[in-house]
Amino acid sequence: MNHYATKEGTARYRDRSKNMLPSDHFRESQGLWMSSIGFGTYLGNYDESTDIRYRDAVLRAVELGCNSIDTAINYRFQRSERSIGAALQVLFNDGKISRDELIIATKGGYIPFDGAPPKDMNTYFIETFMKPGIASSEDIVSGSHCMTPRYIENQLECSLRNLGLECIDIYYLHNPEEQLQEVSREEFNKRISAAFEMLEKKVSQGKIRMYGTATWNGYRQEPNAPDCLSLEELVGIAKEVSGEDHHFKVIQLPFNLAMPEALILKNQRVDGEMTSILEASWRLGVTVIGSSSLLQSQLSKNLPDFIGVCLKGLETDAQRAIQFVRSTPGISSALVGMSKINHIEENMKVAKIPPASIEDFVKLFASEEE
Ligand SMILES: NC(=O)c1ccc[n+]([C@@H]2O[C@H](COP(=O)([O-])OP(=O)(O)OC[C@H]3O[C@@H](n4cnc5c(N)ncnc54)[C@H](OP(=O)(O)O)[C@@H]3O)[C@@H](O)[C@H]2O)c1
Repeated sequence: MNHYATKEGTARYRDRSKNMLPSDHFRESQGLWMSSIGFGTYLGNYDESTDIRYRDAVLRAVELGCNSIDTAINYRFQRSERSIGAALQVLFNDGKISRDELIIATKGGYIPFDGAPPKDMNTYFIETFMKPGIASSEDIVSGSHCMTPRYIENQLECSLRNLGLECIDIYYLHNPEEQLQEVSREEFNKRISAAFEMLEKKVSQGKIRMYGTATWNGYRQEPNAPDCLSLEELVGIAKEVSGEDHHFKVIQLPFNLAMPEALILKNQRVDGEMTSILEASWRLGVTVIGSSSLLQSQLSKNLPDFIGVCLKGLETDAQRAIQFVRSTPGISSALVGMSKINHIEENMKVAKIPPASIEDFVKLFASEEE
Protein backbone atom coordinates (compact mmCIF):
# COMPACT_ATOMS: atom_id res chain seq x y z
CA MET A 1 0.00 0.00 0.00
CA ASN A 2 1.28 3.45 -0.92
CA HIS A 3 1.79 5.93 1.89
CA TYR A 4 0.61 8.86 -0.21
CA ALA A 5 -2.22 9.91 -2.53
CA THR A 6 -2.17 8.19 -5.92
CA LYS A 7 -4.12 8.47 -9.14
CA GLU A 8 -5.66 5.02 -8.56
CA GLY A 9 -6.53 5.74 -4.92
CA THR A 10 -8.09 9.15 -5.57
CA ALA A 11 -10.01 7.73 -8.57
CA ARG A 12 -11.30 4.94 -6.30
CA TYR A 13 -12.52 7.57 -3.81
CA ARG A 14 -14.16 9.54 -6.66
CA ASP A 15 -15.88 6.42 -8.00
CA ARG A 16 -17.19 5.43 -4.56
CA SER A 17 -18.89 8.87 -4.37
CA LYS A 18 -20.56 8.32 -7.77
CA ASN A 19 -24.06 7.69 -6.42
CA MET A 20 -23.89 10.80 -4.26
CA LEU A 21 -21.92 13.33 -6.32
CA PRO A 22 -21.44 14.15 -10.00
CA SER A 23 -17.98 13.21 -11.26
CA ASP A 24 -17.15 16.86 -12.13
CA HIS A 25 -16.81 17.49 -8.40
CA PHE A 26 -13.37 15.87 -8.80
CA ARG A 27 -10.65 17.42 -10.95
CA GLU A 28 -7.51 15.77 -12.16
CA SER A 29 -4.48 17.72 -11.08
CA GLN A 30 -0.86 16.63 -10.94
CA GLY A 31 -2.08 13.08 -11.53
CA LEU A 32 -4.55 13.10 -8.62
CA TRP A 33 -8.35 13.37 -8.46
CA MET A 34 -8.98 16.24 -6.08
CA SER A 35 -12.38 17.29 -4.69
CA SER A 36 -13.46 20.77 -5.81
CA ILE A 37 -14.08 21.65 -2.16
CA GLY A 38 -11.17 21.21 0.24
CA PHE A 39 -11.13 21.15 4.03
CA GLY A 40 -9.31 24.04 5.79
CA THR A 41 -8.19 24.11 9.42
CA TYR A 42 -6.88 27.61 10.13
CA LEU A 43 -9.39 29.15 12.55
CA GLY A 44 -10.49 28.11 16.01
CA ASN A 45 -9.47 28.09 19.64
CA TYR A 46 -6.56 26.12 21.01
CA ASP A 47 -8.56 23.86 23.32
CA GLU A 48 -9.61 20.24 23.52
CA SER A 49 -13.22 20.77 22.49
CA THR A 50 -12.08 22.44 19.24
CA ASP A 51 -9.61 19.58 18.68
CA ILE A 52 -12.44 17.05 18.94
CA ARG A 53 -14.71 19.17 16.77
CA TYR A 54 -12.05 19.31 14.04
CA ARG A 55 -11.38 15.57 14.27
CA ASP A 56 -15.09 14.81 13.85
CA ALA A 57 -15.38 17.45 11.13
CA VAL A 58 -12.65 15.74 9.08
CA LEU A 59 -14.48 12.40 9.42
CA ARG A 60 -17.74 13.94 8.20
CA ALA A 61 -16.12 15.89 5.36
CA VAL A 62 -14.37 12.77 4.05
CA GLU A 63 -17.68 10.90 4.27
CA LEU A 64 -19.40 13.61 2.20
CA GLY A 65 -16.90 13.69 -0.66
CA CYS A 66 -14.00 15.90 0.39
CA ASN A 67 -10.63 14.19 -0.15
CA SER A 68 -8.40 17.25 0.06
CA ILE A 69 -7.32 18.44 3.51
CA ASP A 70 -5.24 21.53 4.18
CA THR A 71 -3.41 22.61 7.30
CA ALA A 72 -0.20 24.27 8.53
CA ILE A 73 2.05 23.50 11.46
CA ASN A 74 1.27 26.82 13.15
CA TYR A 75 -2.55 26.54 12.85
CA ARG A 76 -3.99 26.44 16.36
CA PHE A 77 -0.45 25.93 17.67
CA GLN A 78 -0.02 22.51 15.96
CA ARG A 79 -3.40 21.35 17.21
CA SER A 80 -4.99 21.38 13.74
CA GLU A 81 -2.36 18.99 12.39
CA ARG A 82 -2.83 16.77 15.43
CA SER A 83 -6.65 16.81 15.05
CA ILE A 84 -6.27 15.73 11.42
CA GLY A 85 -3.83 13.04 12.55
CA ALA A 86 -6.43 11.76 15.04
CA ALA A 87 -9.12 11.69 12.34
CA LEU A 88 -6.86 9.88 9.86
CA GLN A 89 -6.10 7.24 12.46
CA VAL A 90 -9.85 6.59 12.91
CA LEU A 91 -10.42 6.46 9.15
CA PHE A 92 -7.52 4.11 8.48
CA ASN A 93 -8.23 1.86 11.50
CA ASP A 94 -11.88 1.50 10.50
CA GLY A 95 -10.74 0.57 7.01
CA LYS A 96 -13.20 3.10 5.59
CA ILE A 97 -10.55 4.99 3.66
CA SER A 98 -7.06 4.15 2.55
CA ARG A 99 -4.14 6.55 2.61
CA ASP A 100 -3.84 6.68 -1.19
CA GLU A 101 -7.36 8.20 -1.48
CA LEU A 102 -6.64 11.41 0.47
CA ILE A 103 -4.56 14.45 -0.48
CA ILE A 104 -2.97 15.92 2.64
CA ALA A 105 -1.27 19.32 2.49
CA THR A 106 0.57 21.25 5.16
CA LYS A 107 2.87 24.26 5.42
CA GLY A 108 5.95 25.43 7.25
CA GLY A 109 7.54 28.84 7.70
CA TYR A 110 6.03 30.44 10.79
CA ILE A 111 7.42 29.61 14.22
CA PRO A 112 4.74 27.43 15.78
CA PHE A 113 3.91 27.15 19.46
CA ASP A 114 3.37 23.72 20.91
CA GLY A 115 -0.31 23.39 21.81
CA ALA A 116 -0.51 26.73 23.63
CA PRO A 117 1.44 29.98 23.80
CA PRO A 118 4.59 29.57 25.93
CA LYS A 119 5.00 31.47 29.20
CA ASP A 120 8.11 33.15 27.86
CA MET A 121 8.64 33.47 24.10
CA ASN A 122 12.40 33.98 24.25
CA THR A 123 12.98 30.93 26.43
CA TYR A 124 10.73 28.84 24.16
CA PHE A 125 12.64 29.93 21.05
CA ILE A 126 16.04 29.34 22.65
CA GLU A 127 15.15 25.90 24.04
CA THR A 128 13.15 24.63 21.06
CA PHE A 129 15.06 26.03 18.12
CA MET A 130 18.38 27.66 19.08
CA LYS A 131 19.91 25.10 21.44
CA PRO A 132 19.22 22.11 19.14
CA GLY A 133 20.72 24.17 16.24
CA ILE A 134 17.46 24.31 14.24
CA ALA A 135 17.39 28.10 13.84
CA SER A 136 19.24 31.15 15.09
CA SER A 137 17.80 34.58 15.74
CA GLU A 138 19.46 35.87 12.51
CA ASP A 139 17.38 33.38 10.52
CA ILE A 140 14.10 34.95 11.65
CA VAL A 141 12.23 37.59 9.66
CA SER A 142 9.45 39.82 11.06
CA GLY A 143 9.90 38.14 14.42
CA SER A 144 8.09 34.97 13.32
CA HIS A 145 9.11 33.65 9.89
CA CYS A 146 11.96 31.40 8.85
CA MET A 147 12.63 29.33 5.73
CA THR A 148 16.20 28.09 6.03
CA PRO A 149 16.60 24.47 4.87
CA ARG A 150 17.50 23.27 8.37
CA TYR A 151 14.42 24.89 9.87
CA ILE A 152 11.97 23.73 7.17
CA GLU A 153 13.39 20.22 7.37
CA ASN A 154 12.73 20.21 11.12
CA GLN A 155 9.21 21.55 10.63
CA LEU A 156 8.42 18.95 7.99
CA GLU A 157 9.52 16.14 10.32
CA CYS A 158 7.37 17.63 13.07
CA SER A 159 4.33 17.85 10.73
CA LEU A 160 4.78 14.19 9.74
CA ARG A 161 4.69 13.26 13.44
CA ASN A 162 1.66 15.48 14.15
CA LEU A 163 -0.25 14.01 11.23
CA GLY A 164 0.91 10.45 11.89
CA LEU A 165 1.98 10.10 8.26
CA GLU A 166 5.03 8.78 6.45
CA CYS A 167 4.58 11.14 3.52
CA ILE A 168 2.83 14.48 2.92
CA ASP A 169 1.26 14.97 -0.51
CA ILE A 170 1.76 18.74 -0.79
CA TYR A 171 4.24 20.69 1.34
CA TYR A 172 4.04 24.48 1.08
CA LEU A 173 6.42 27.21 2.12
CA HIS A 174 3.99 29.32 4.13
CA ASN A 175 3.68 32.96 3.03
CA PRO A 176 7.29 33.17 1.78
CA GLU A 177 6.60 36.76 0.65
CA GLU A 178 6.87 37.66 4.34
CA GLN A 179 10.66 37.49 3.86
CA LEU A 180 10.54 40.29 1.28
CA GLN A 181 9.61 42.69 4.09
CA GLU A 182 13.20 42.47 5.26
CA VAL A 183 15.48 40.96 2.63
CA SER A 184 16.39 41.99 -0.92
CA ARG A 185 14.94 40.18 -3.93
CA GLU A 186 18.36 38.70 -4.63
CA GLU A 187 18.67 37.32 -1.10
CA PHE A 188 15.06 36.09 -1.24
CA ASN A 189 15.75 34.14 -4.44
CA LYS A 190 18.84 32.58 -2.80
CA ARG A 191 16.72 31.52 0.19
CA ILE A 192 13.99 30.11 -2.09
CA SER A 193 16.62 28.19 -4.04
CA ALA A 194 18.07 26.67 -0.85
CA ALA A 195 14.59 25.73 0.42
CA PHE A 196 13.61 24.19 -2.94
CA GLU A 197 16.84 22.17 -2.97
CA MET A 198 16.00 20.74 0.44
CA LEU A 199 12.38 20.04 -0.59
CA GLU A 200 13.56 18.21 -3.73
CA LYS A 201 15.71 16.08 -1.42
CA LYS A 202 12.61 15.34 0.69
CA VAL A 203 10.74 14.25 -2.46
CA SER A 204 13.54 11.81 -3.28
CA GLN A 205 13.47 10.53 0.32
CA GLY A 206 9.71 9.88 0.01
CA LYS A 207 8.76 12.39 2.75
CA ILE A 208 6.74 14.63 0.43
CA ARG A 209 5.32 14.16 -3.07
CA MET A 210 5.41 17.77 -4.31
CA TYR A 211 5.84 21.25 -2.92
CA GLY A 212 4.72 24.81 -3.47
CA THR A 213 4.07 28.25 -2.02
CA ALA A 214 0.97 29.05 0.05
CA THR A 215 0.51 32.80 0.10
CA TRP A 216 -1.59 35.69 1.28
CA ASN A 217 -0.31 38.79 -0.55
CA GLY A 218 2.38 37.32 -2.78
CA TYR A 219 0.37 36.60 -5.92
CA ARG A 220 -2.23 39.37 -5.43
CA GLN A 221 0.00 42.43 -5.58
CA GLU A 222 0.77 44.88 -8.35
CA PRO A 223 3.83 43.55 -10.20
CA ASN A 224 6.11 46.29 -8.87
CA ALA A 225 5.09 45.81 -5.20
CA PRO A 226 8.06 44.82 -3.01
CA ASP A 227 6.41 41.56 -1.97
CA CYS A 228 4.91 40.49 -5.31
CA LEU A 229 5.94 36.95 -6.26
CA SER A 230 6.71 36.03 -9.85
CA LEU A 231 5.61 32.50 -10.62
CA GLU A 232 7.80 32.35 -13.70
CA GLU A 233 10.81 33.26 -11.55
CA LEU A 234 9.93 30.63 -8.91
CA VAL A 235 9.45 27.92 -11.53
CA GLY A 236 12.77 29.05 -13.02
CA ILE A 237 14.48 28.55 -9.65
CA ALA A 238 12.91 25.07 -9.32
CA LYS A 239 14.26 24.22 -12.78
CA GLU A 240 17.75 25.50 -11.86
CA VAL A 241 17.66 23.32 -8.75
CA SER A 242 16.21 20.17 -10.25
CA GLY A 243 15.73 20.49 -14.00
CA GLU A 244 12.47 19.97 -15.90
CA ASP A 245 11.42 17.19 -13.50
CA HIS A 246 11.20 19.52 -10.50
CA HIS A 247 8.35 19.09 -8.00
CA PHE A 248 7.30 22.74 -7.48
CA LYS A 249 3.77 21.99 -8.61
CA VAL A 250 1.17 23.78 -6.47
CA ILE A 251 0.40 27.27 -5.24
CA GLN A 252 -2.25 28.45 -2.82
CA LEU A 253 -3.73 31.94 -2.70
CA PRO A 254 -6.80 33.64 -1.24
CA PHE A 255 -9.59 33.77 -3.78
CA ASN A 256 -13.24 34.63 -3.20
CA LEU A 257 -16.03 36.97 -4.31
CA ALA A 258 -14.34 39.87 -2.49
CA MET A 259 -10.77 38.96 -3.50
CA PRO A 260 -10.88 38.10 -7.22
CA GLU A 261 -7.34 39.35 -8.06
CA ALA A 262 -6.06 35.94 -9.15
CA LEU A 263 -8.54 36.05 -12.02
CA ILE A 264 -8.55 39.72 -12.98
CA LEU A 265 -5.18 41.27 -12.06
CA LYS A 266 -2.50 40.88 -14.72
CA ASN A 267 0.48 40.91 -12.40
CA GLN A 268 2.47 37.98 -13.80
CA ARG A 269 4.93 38.01 -16.68
CA VAL A 270 5.16 34.78 -18.67
CA ASP A 271 7.28 34.68 -21.83
CA GLY A 272 7.36 38.48 -21.80
CA GLU A 273 3.56 38.86 -21.64
CA MET A 274 1.60 40.18 -18.63
CA THR A 275 -1.19 37.90 -17.46
CA SER A 276 -3.14 36.80 -14.37
CA ILE A 277 -1.73 34.29 -11.87
CA LEU A 278 -4.43 31.77 -12.90
CA GLU A 279 -3.40 31.97 -16.54
CA ALA A 280 0.31 32.01 -15.61
CA SER A 281 -0.13 28.89 -13.47
CA TRP A 282 -1.88 27.06 -16.27
CA ARG A 283 0.89 28.00 -18.71
CA LEU A 284 3.60 26.95 -16.27
CA GLY A 285 1.94 23.66 -15.27
CA VAL A 286 1.26 24.67 -11.66
CA THR A 287 -1.97 23.76 -9.82
CA VAL A 288 -3.85 26.55 -8.00
CA ILE A 289 -5.75 26.00 -4.76
CA GLY A 290 -8.04 28.82 -3.58
CA SER A 291 -8.06 29.66 0.13
CA SER A 292 -10.39 31.71 2.32
CA SER A 293 -13.35 30.93 0.06
CA LEU A 294 -15.77 32.59 2.51
CA LEU A 295 -13.45 35.44 3.50
CA GLN A 296 -13.39 33.92 6.97
CA SER A 297 -17.20 33.52 6.99
CA GLN A 298 -17.93 37.14 5.96
CA LEU A 299 -19.33 35.96 2.62
CA SER A 300 -21.75 33.55 4.26
CA LYS A 301 -24.45 36.21 4.52
CA ASN A 302 -25.82 39.38 2.88
CA LEU A 303 -24.52 38.72 -0.64
CA PRO A 304 -26.16 40.92 -3.29
CA ASP A 305 -29.16 39.26 -5.01
CA PHE A 306 -27.57 39.19 -8.47
CA ILE A 307 -25.08 36.57 -7.24
CA GLY A 308 -27.93 34.17 -6.57
CA VAL A 309 -29.36 34.94 -10.01
CA CYS A 310 -26.06 33.98 -11.69
CA LEU A 311 -25.05 31.09 -9.42
CA LYS A 312 -28.26 29.10 -9.52
CA GLY A 313 -29.59 26.09 -7.62
CA LEU A 314 -28.17 27.00 -4.20
CA GLU A 315 -29.91 27.74 -0.92
CA THR A 316 -27.47 29.85 1.07
CA ASP A 317 -24.91 32.61 0.54
CA ALA A 318 -22.10 30.41 1.87
CA GLN A 319 -22.95 27.87 -0.86
CA ARG A 320 -22.96 30.62 -3.51
CA ALA A 321 -19.58 31.93 -2.34
CA ILE A 322 -18.12 28.41 -2.53
CA GLN A 323 -19.70 27.81 -5.94
CA PHE A 324 -18.00 30.98 -7.23
CA VAL A 325 -14.55 29.72 -6.23
CA ARG A 326 -14.95 26.13 -7.46
CA SER A 327 -16.43 27.37 -10.77
CA THR A 328 -13.52 29.68 -11.55
CA PRO A 329 -11.47 28.34 -14.46
CA GLY A 330 -8.01 27.51 -13.17
CA ILE A 331 -8.93 26.89 -9.52
CA SER A 332 -8.62 23.18 -8.73
CA SER A 333 -10.10 23.24 -5.25
CA ALA A 334 -11.85 25.80 -3.04
CA LEU A 335 -10.62 25.52 0.54
CA VAL A 336 -13.22 26.19 3.21
CA GLY A 337 -12.49 26.22 6.92
CA MET A 338 -15.31 24.30 8.58
CA SER A 339 -15.11 22.86 12.05
CA LYS A 340 -18.88 22.58 12.56
CA ILE A 341 -20.80 19.59 11.21
CA ASN A 342 -23.76 21.76 10.13
CA HIS A 343 -21.37 23.94 8.09
CA ILE A 344 -19.84 20.89 6.42
CA GLU A 345 -23.24 19.49 5.54
CA GLU A 346 -24.39 22.85 4.16
CA ASN A 347 -21.18 23.43 2.20
CA MET A 348 -20.81 19.93 0.76
CA LYS A 349 -24.28 20.22 -0.80
CA VAL A 350 -22.60 22.46 -3.37
CA ALA A 351 -20.71 19.40 -4.64
CA LYS A 352 -24.03 17.86 -5.69
CA ILE A 353 -24.45 20.35 -8.51
CA PRO A 354 -22.06 21.01 -11.40
CA PRO A 355 -19.83 24.09 -11.25
CA ALA A 356 -21.46 27.18 -12.84
CA SER A 357 -21.29 27.28 -16.63
CA ILE A 358 -18.94 29.78 -18.23
CA GLU A 359 -22.03 31.71 -19.47
CA ASP A 360 -23.40 32.11 -15.91
CA PHE A 361 -19.94 32.83 -14.52
CA VAL A 362 -19.34 35.63 -17.03
CA LYS A 363 -22.79 37.12 -16.24
CA LEU A 364 -21.61 37.52 -12.67
CA PHE A 365 -19.01 40.07 -13.76
CA ALA A 366 -21.37 41.79 -16.19
CA SER A 367 -23.95 42.16 -13.37
CA GLU A 368 -21.31 43.68 -11.14
CA GLU A 369 -20.59 46.40 -13.70
CA GLU A 370 -24.29 47.28 -14.22
N1 LIG B 1 -1.69 31.97 3.55
C1 LIG B 1 -2.24 30.79 3.62
O1 LIG B 1 -1.61 29.78 3.45
C2 LIG B 1 -3.71 30.67 3.94
C3 LIG B 1 -4.44 31.81 4.30
C4 LIG B 1 -5.78 31.66 4.59
C5 LIG B 1 -6.38 30.41 4.52
N2 LIG B 1 -5.65 29.31 4.19
C6 LIG B 1 -6.30 27.96 4.11
O2 LIG B 1 -7.58 28.10 3.55
C7 LIG B 1 -8.56 27.61 4.47
C8 LIG B 1 -9.85 28.39 4.34
O3 LIG B 1 -9.67 29.73 4.75
P1 LIG B 1 -10.18 30.29 6.18
O4 LIG B 1 -10.44 29.15 7.09
O5 LIG B 1 -9.23 31.33 6.61
O6 LIG B 1 -11.50 31.04 5.83
P2 LIG B 1 -12.87 30.62 5.15
O7 LIG B 1 -12.83 29.26 4.62
O8 LIG B 1 -13.20 31.72 4.21
O9 LIG B 1 -13.90 30.72 6.37
C9 LIG B 1 -13.84 29.85 7.46
C10 LIG B 1 -14.86 30.33 8.48
O10 LIG B 1 -16.18 30.24 7.90
C11 LIG B 1 -17.04 29.53 8.78
N3 LIG B 1 -18.00 28.79 7.94
C12 LIG B 1 -17.78 27.68 7.19
N4 LIG B 1 -18.92 27.32 6.55
C13 LIG B 1 -19.87 28.20 6.90
C14 LIG B 1 -21.25 28.33 6.59
N5 LIG B 1 -21.85 27.49 5.76
N6 LIG B 1 -21.93 29.38 7.12
C15 LIG B 1 -21.32 30.26 7.96
N7 LIG B 1 -19.99 30.18 8.31
C16 LIG B 1 -19.29 29.15 7.78
C17 LIG B 1 -16.15 28.60 9.58
O11 LIG B 1 -16.77 28.33 10.81
P3 LIG B 1 -16.62 26.94 11.61
O12 LIG B 1 -15.16 26.63 11.72
O13 LIG B 1 -17.24 27.30 12.91
O14 LIG B 1 -17.37 25.85 10.89
C18 LIG B 1 -14.91 29.47 9.74
O15 LIG B 1 -15.05 30.36 10.83
C19 LIG B 1 -7.90 27.76 5.83
O16 LIG B 1 -8.54 27.00 6.81
C20 LIG B 1 -6.50 27.32 5.49
O17 LIG B 1 -6.46 25.92 5.42
C21 LIG B 1 -4.34 29.44 3.88
